[in-house]
Amino acid sequence: MDQKPELVTHKGFKFILGTHDPNDVDSICQLETRDSDVFVVTYPKSGTIWMQQILLLLEAKGDVTAIGAAKSSSNADLVPWIEVIGSRQAFMTAPSPRLRVSHLAYHFMPRALRQKTGKVIYVARNPKDVLVSYYFFHKLANMLETPASFEDFFDKFLKGDVFGSSWFEHVKTWYFHKDDVNMLFITYEEMIQDLKWTVKRISLFVGQDLREEQLANVVKFSTFSNMRKIPQASYEQVPDDMFNHHMGSFMRKGTVGDWKNHFTVAQNEIFDKVFQREMKDFPVSFIWDTL
Ligand code: PPS
Repeated sequence: MDQKPELVTHKGFKFILGTHDPNDVDSICQLETRDSDVFVVTYPKSGTIWMQQILLLLEAKGDVTAIGAAKSSSNADLVPWIEVIGSRQAFMTAPSPRLRVSHLAYHFMPRALRQKTGKVIYVARNPKDVLVSYYFFHKLANMLETPASFEDFFDKFLKGDVFGSSWFEHVKTWYFHKDDVNMLFITYEEMIQDLKWTVKRISLFVGQDLREEQLANVVKFSTFSNMRKIPQASYEQVPDDMFNHHMGSFMRKGTVGDWKNHFTVAQNEIFDKVFQREMKDFPVSFIWDTL
């Protein structure tokens, strides 16, 4: 990659220069939506590519070979990020159903969603695991600055000095809309705890009526171990100029509670204080420990 990784702040939100164009991002809120549109919104490292796989499988009625037949190098070709440079035009002309993912803050998303045209699935993950996952992703992804150390990244994350800005702001703003009729708010930990139930909820929400055996296949091919074996789903084929594949893999651990292997006691205390202060009026409950 020629360009040095750099973040740029636009309307209070940090973007990645070269991956996002702030002016182009501004036009997203004027996009017309359709009832069949589904947007998965997450703070980075909260289950985005997992949801890409689930939505594609639901659409294919559990037939994993149908997704493979698309011959894309990754699921991002089929369920792209709406904020990435160049994806807006394709969105306008794409056939229904348009499945998209996004890390955007609420105020950047299409206004038409507020009129309930189109659906949003928001996935939140406990922020200690997000921090750890994001730290390792910064080592893997060339568009992000390699952290000087875990301590340094820990501070940056708490300050919101990363792509996506503050985890707290992101989750709080979206959580505020969790009861909107066109929104489903779920957590990564719920998905880990009971994938079958989560897939069922998602299928009902997006209006995909699948038979039991079809739903079972959706679950089967979206487990961590099976997704890892599917190059399109695991992002294994992302070009070397984007990912430093020798630094790790996108599908790293897929567990709850890995933060315990990385946080010091002092860091955990600092984190808990910030969490309590920031989230005191937002009763989102997270599972923090290994299940
Ligand atoms: S990104 O870069 O923001 O799009 O990353 P995102 O997809 O949101 O999050 C990556 C983490 O999700 C884990 N993952 C899964 N966990 C459990 N089961 C399945 N099927 C699954 N698919 C992806 C992935 O491993 C990353 O978490 P960590 O903790 O780093 O392993």
